[in-house]
Amino acid sequence: MKVLVINGPNLNMLGVREKEIYGTKDFQDVCNYIKEEGQKRNIDIELLQSNIEGEIINGIHKAYYEKYDGIIINPGAYTHYSYAIMDAIKAVNINTVEVHLSNIHAREEFRHKSVIAAACIGQICGFGEFGYVMAMEVLKNGKVKSEELKI
Ligand code: DQA
Repeated sequence: MKVLVINGPNLNMLGVREKEIYGTKDFQDVCNYIKEEGQKRNIDIELLQSNIEGEIINGIHKAYYEKYDGIIINPGAYTHYSYAIMDAIKAVNINTVEVHLSNIHAREEFRHKSVIAAACIGQICGFGEFGYVMAMEVLKNGKVKSEELKI
């Protein structure tokens, strides 16, 4: 299966930016981790990072034309106000999981709202880079009922 993993603005600064929130791993380490975990699950991972809203939208459209099976997206701050990214996800009708490294609900008020989540099959936040792996499991196995989750 082919999955496009999109990281939005400022995620390329991981390892430099607000380490107390985002940790000390740099972006390349996180990308390597995502690739490796994808390989273990037989998922063909394509990575896209952009600080530009239009490039993220073009990436989502590309996922449609290139017949991707799923999208994992950390839209960064665009999460909180980009109706254009939300519309792009709705347009392509590809199973999409929203991921955040930090627990956005435990942070400033403006981060509590995601305008993207409604276009996604679900949102994962607060578990660092492991969130991307959880999203892979969801895309591979489909939605699971909460009572079936073994933690
Ligand atoms: C983030 C949370 C956003 O609020 C923030 O703007 C980011 C990163 C996260 O992964 O926790 O850039 O998406």
